Amino acid sequence: MQKYIIISTILFLSMESNQLLDYLPAAPNKILDIGCGTGELTAQIAAKGFNVLGIDQSNNMIQKAKLNFPNLDFVQGNILHMQLEQGSFDTVFSNAVFHWINDQQTLAMKIHTVLKPGGLLVCEFGAEGNIKTISTAFSTELNLLGKAYYSPFYFPSVSEYTTLLKQNNFEIITAYDYPRPTTLKEGYSGLSNWVKQFFAADLVKLDDPDTVMKHLEDRLEDKLWKDDHWEADYHRIRVVAKSI
Ligand code: BEZ
Repeated sequence: MQKYIIISTILFLSMESNQLLDYLPAAPNKILDIGCGTGELTAQIAAKGFNVLGIDQSNNMIQKAKLNFPNLDFVQGNILHMQLEQGSFDTVFSNAVFHWINDQQTLAMKIHTVLKPGGLLVCEFGAEGNIKTISTAFSTELNLLGKAYYSPFYFPSVSEYTTLLKQNNFEIITAYDYPRPTTLKEGYSGLSNWVKQFFAADLVKLDDPDTVMKHLEDRLEDKLWKDDHWEADYHRIRVVAKSI
């Protein structure tokens, strides 16, 4: 595990805590939640007394978020293209979303633009090595069919991501990666349901996806099947950085 931590006086952190939300500053302020999905974390941020706007590019998610939490603010849009007022947020928060975004340079610039000077980015997403056991096995199965697997995800190392942020005028407060083994729900079907969600683009190109899935389960059973559930080998990066 790579660790890079600078304690800053502006943060009130519980370093023992495992919750990304605990990295938010103590004082109430205005927060942008990028990729809020159905709004559960946005609501937890609001419950801490923050003024929060949740955004997500999925209209379906935003409609559900509005139904779930009618008193909170949600807007549908893609952070890379949305018109958000410059310097209008004290903190940008994001959980489990940045790995979906290819244009990280534009994302970092955009976050810097919407933050006030001295504002914070608090984020977590997939790190280098995330789901390596699953993706390696999937890649092997595709290779046996004469096909290749190209990961669509951005899973950077700590040094790669912190370098990008520094190039975009951020000072790193805390940055580390950590293993986060994740239980997949729904028993033995859990792996195939997960693969259908995260490797969907590859599965649709296969003549016989069910057989590939069966071979994948066989290949991964020793490594990831734990008595009554699959455990995906998630590995996350967590960063708190200050806009300068
Ligand atoms: C995650 O770390 O949440 C994740 C990212 C991409 C694919 C699967 C899981």
